[in-house]
Amino acid sequence: MTNNYIPVKIAGVGYSLPETVITNDDLTKLYDTSDEWIYSRTGIKERRLVSGDEDAIDLGLVAAENALKKSGIKPEELDLIIAASSAPPQLYPAIACHIQSRLGIETDIPAFDITAACSGLIYGMHVAKGFINSGIYKNILIVATDNNSRYLDWSDRGTSILFGDGAGAMVLTAAEDGVDDILYIDIKAKGSIGELIYKDNVGQNCPLVEPCSEHDGFIHMNGRGVYTFVAKILPKYVEDLLEHAGMKAEDIDYLIPHQANLRIIQAVQERLGYSDDKVVTNIKYYGNTSAASIPIALAESVEKGNVKLDTTAILCGFGAGMTWGGAIVRLREGIC
Ligand code: UT7
Repeated sequence: MTNNYIPVKIAGVGYSLPETVITNDDLTKLYDTSDEWIYSRTGIKERRLVSGDEDAIDLGLVAAENALKKSGIKPEELDLIIAASSAPPQLYPAIACHIQSRLGIETDIPAFDITAACSGLIYGMHVAKGFINSGIYKNILIVATDNNSRYLDWSDRGTSILFGDGAGAMVLTAAEDGVDDILYIDIKAKGSIGELIYKDNVGQNCPLVEPCSEHDGFIHMNGRGVYTFVAKILPKYVEDLLEHAGMKAEDIDYLIPHQANLRIIQAVQERLGYSDDKVVTNIKYYGNTSAASIPIALAESVEKGNVKLDTTAILCGFGAGMTWGGAIVRLREGIC
């Protein structure tokens, strides 16, 4: 750490969900499944899905506006926008460019997307932290948003039961009081097992050359493979985060994990020895909202009074790539 190190304040967190609810019972109209099968294996009862032309950009905009309002930072005071999405509605323009435009920002601030799937918020936080710590940028908006429902094969019951749509956003800024809200952060990837979850872009070769093989644009997942890998690495990884931060499980007030499967969350909870009231879960109502799941879980649990502020939390996520990451953060009063 140099003398010029500028600490980071988490200034605001917001979220947004589409209104349309699809229950497990609804899914029985699509294929042979049951509420009992889905709920017992995943903890999911229902999910919210985009409908009509609504998409991840619309959801992301509302989440961004909510986070900005909480932060007290105006859109025109932002220095950078980072969007994190597993599969953006358009590869370009980036979601972040759309958000810049729809927030009415005319100062040409940089805006770009990162692809780290469900680890997107943590990846975005790490990138933003670097910019703030070094003094390059002061006010950064991260928007984590996904409309996976549009890329699911709705005849594939192994995958389409799992995902929901939603958006979360976080505003990070230089901490003028010198108090760092990111106590520790880490991100990881293992590309060699990337085939566990993938989504191809659909395309074709020039008609003058040999055609390429055909790909669909659907999300493909080896659910059992993902489960086995994550259940093996994540509990130990979270324990290591604490050790690197020089903290113990009992020093932290809440675990706010990516909501992908209740059994994976419970494995981490067990390892940390946390009671249920220390662990945020809302997968029952929203399914896996990918990049958005951690900020939705954080902001919604504060709104509902299940998480108190002026506390600390472990945020952790994992997803396609495979990627994973975690952050130990201070949750200040007023951030959501
Ligand atoms: O952020 C993304 C991260 N992704 C994840 O976290 C996914 C983690 N994995 C999982 O949550 C679980 O693997 C799933 C819930 C997706 C699947 O559970 P599973 O116990 O691993 O099921 P499976 O894929 O091994 O399938 C077991 C059986 C199969 O039948 P047979 O071949 O044994 O006769 C499937 O056809 O269950 C069947 N099956 C279903 N049955 C009823 C698969 N999906 C369904 C379904 N309803 N929806």
